[in-house]
Amino acid sequence: MEFKNVNAFREKIKRIVISENEIKSAVKEAGKIINSLYDGTPILLVSILKGSFVFLADLCREINIPCEIGFMAAESYYDGTLSSGNVKITMDLTQDLSKYNIIIVEDIIDTGRTLNDVVNLLKARNPISLRIITLLDKPSRRTVDLKVDLSLFTIPDIFVVGYGLDFGEYYRNLPYIAEFSE
Ligand code: IMP
Ligand code: MG
Repeated sequence: MEFKNVNAFREKIKRIVISENEIKSAVKEAGKIINSLYDGTPILLVSILKGSFVFLADLCREINIPCEIGFMAAESYYDGTLSSGNVKITMDLTQDLSKYNIIIVEDIIDTGRTLNDVVNLLKARNPISLRIITLLDKPSRRTVDLKVDLSLFTIPDIFVVGYGLDFGEYYRNLPYIAEFSE
């Protein structure tokens, strides 16, 4: 993806949907909830790359109980409209999951298909517990029955960028969530 100039890059940001301050206070609240949910058995925050890296970095600094960080990357392949996927893990966790409470940290849940596959894969490794936390949720787009434990913001079916989320790998560094227009 290429931009003619900086203006062309900026013009695609239509409006701010969630401000920096709104994100900040929601992340603080999420940290408090996590701190109250566990009894000291180790937590493994699992970030599914790349979109969740900013959220993870802020969230983990609101957590004050024993906590490790792990990264995963996954690609999913679907034939046509079938909702059962075939997930390929391109970067895997190295930890023995039976020792951890897993918290999957996601940027956005759209159809939920990729995450659903990842959840099933991780559950098969017998973690002590498994929860899902997502910054953004587009429930109107869901095609699988996925239980999300904590969702910070519900948004309509619009395409957003910033705070980790990209369009063509750009805009991840915006400090807010913005509606993107092509
Ligand atoms: P799902 O398997 O359909 O839930 O795919 C979710 C993935 O699609 C997210 O992790 C994002 O990478 C991408 N995605 C979905 N909606 C958006 C959006 O509005 N902006 C940027 N990426 C999105
Ligand atoms: Mg993602």
